[in-house]
Amino acid sequence: MQNPIIVALDVPLAETALQLAAQLAPVVGAFKIGSELFTSAGPEIVRRIRATGADVFLDLKFHDIPNTVAKAVASATRLDVQMITIHTCGGLEMMKAAEQSAQQTALQAGRNAPLILGVTVLTSMDTNNLSEVGVPTNVGHQVERLASLAAKAGLRGLVCSPLEITALRQVLPSHMQLVTPGIRTGAEKADDQKRTLTPKEAITAGANWLVIGRPIYAAENPRAAAEKILASLQ
Ligand code: C5P
Repeated sequence: MQNPIIVALDVPLAETALQLAAQLAPVVGAFKIGSELFTSAGPEIVRRIRATGADVFLDLKFHDIPNTVAKAVASATRLDVQMITIHTCGGLEMMKAAEQSAQQTALQAGRNAPLILGVTVLTSMDTNNLSEVGVPTNVGHQVERLASLAAKAGLRGLVCSPLEITALRQVLPSHMQLVTPGIRTGAEKADDQKRTLTPKEAITAGANWLVIGRPIYAAENPRAAAEKILASLQ
C-alpha cells in the first residue's frame, strides 16, 4: 500500500516548513502546500520541498476562466508537483482545460501528469450559505452534482469531507482518487473541524489519501505522531 498520509504544511515560514519536511519525509506520503505558505514563500518553497524527494500537493484551489486556469495548471505542472486543486464550480470547460493542460505540460516535460483534484462544496458552507450564493439545494446534492461533473470532465480525483466518502463512492467511477481532510485521531482536540473521522475509518470508507495538518505538525513530536497514524492503518 502507498503511504496515504499527506501532511498539510500550514505554516507561514519556509524554514519551518522545511524543518517539518526533513523530519517527516521518511514516514509520510506527501506534503501539502496551501495559500498561506505559497503566498509567503512562493514557488521556491515548492522546489525546495521537491528537492528533498518528497511529493507535493499544491493546494491553491484555482477558479477562473478556462484559459487562465489552464495556464496556472501548466505553471504548477512545470514546478513538478504531484497534485493540484481546482474548484469544480468553475464549470465543465474549466475542468477539462485544467486536465488537458496538466496532461500536455507533463508530456512536454517528460513526466507523469499531476492529479488534478476537484474541490466541490467547501466544508465551511452549509445549505443556508449555499442558498445565500444562489444555489438552492442541500450540500449533499450539490457535492454529488459537482463530483459527477468533475468525472465527466475527466478529472481523476476529488477532495471531499470524510462524511462524503461513502456517498461519493456510490456515484463515482472506482478509479476516482478521493483525498480527505478533516482527519482526527481522537487523541487531540478537533480544532475547528466539525465532521471528522479517524485515519483508519476514512481509509475503510474508501479514501485514497488523508490530508492531516495540526494532529501532526502541532504535535509535541510530529514524527512520532505521523508514525503512530501510519501504524494505526496497518
Ligand atoms: O489541521 P487540519 O488537519 O485541520 O488541516 C486540514 C487541512 O486540509 C488544511 O490545510 C485545510 O485547509 C484543508 N482542508 C480542510 N477542509 C476542507 C478542505 C481542505 O480542512 N474541506
